[in-house]
Amino acid sequence: MYNTLLTHLENGIFTITVNRPDKMNALNKDVIAEIGMAMQEVYTNPEIKSAIITGAGEKAFVAGADITEFTALKKDGGAALARKGAELVFNKIENCPKPVIAAVNGFSLGGGCELAMACHFRVASENAKFGQPEVNLGLIPGYGGTQRLTQLIGKGKAMELMMTADMIGAEEAKALGLVNHVFPIADLIIKTKEILQKIQTKAPLAVGHIISLVNKAAKCDPNGFEDEIDAFGDCFDSEDKIEGTAAFLEKRKPVFKGK
Ligand code: COA
Repeated sequence: MYNTLLTHLENGIFTITVNRPDKMNALNKDVIAEIGMAMQEVYTNPEIKSAIITGAGEKAFVAGADITEFTALKKDGGAALARKGAELVFNKIENCPKPVIAAVNGFSLGGGCELAMACHFRVASENAKFGQPEVNLGLIPGYGGTQRLTQLIGKGKAMELMMTADMIGAEEAKALGLVNHVFPIADLIIKTKEILQKIQTKAPLAVGHIISLVNKAAKCDPNGFEDEIDAFGDCFDSEDKIEGTAAFLEKRKPVFKGK
């Protein structure tokens, strides 16, 4: 169905694998369009409860936007590329009401690091490498990197990484809060699936509210506290709140329906 992606749905987990390993899974127009389509599936297919984004092979998650597509672009084309990416892919992932985890299995550079950062959180293999090397090309991150890297690791480190174009390894990324866990590459997808299986046992509407509210906090949205109060109230009208509280009192596991 896709030319540049592999997709696989199992136990409610939709795995989206960027599949251009000979080009380090670089994000060309087709990949961006197809990740947008795959995310649309995540939003609309009720059988999909959560998603993983990863890269094909053991060398790269995604080594950036496809640099060959930059050569013909001028100001308007560059801005349009960034805007389209934000709309089709990066904001769509960030705002997805179902959890989306990046399983970073190698180079995660430029647009690849930005793709990982648009996900709700990140796990990495031991060989993963992160960086925003755009200054080497006379560019800056254009898929949200200046904003999301600063949100995730703070101003000073974000400035340094983007100004120097230095790459960091998985353990340093973990120490900085860029990734939550580091696993041997052979275990990466299994461990990511374990995390998502656990999340899938929780109340889906509540998980969706958490995604939206944490996104607001990360953007210093002044309405975050008020919106939390409203969302907390909304939870009280859900069937899952009745089930969750009843299951606790009856000393059994809840079965949530996302209603
Ligand atoms: N865009 C387009 N093509 C890319 C690419 C990108 N971002 N990253 C890698 N490729 C291509 C290479 O051109 C090469 O193609 P070729 O075999 O036709 O020559 C192929 O992928 C393999 O990459 P190569 O550079 O030979 O692998 P390596 O192991 O020596 O180095 C990297 C790996 C990731 C360090 C290196 O490819 C790199 O620096 N890529 C660009 C990273 C970058 O600047 N990203 C930000 C873009 S905004």
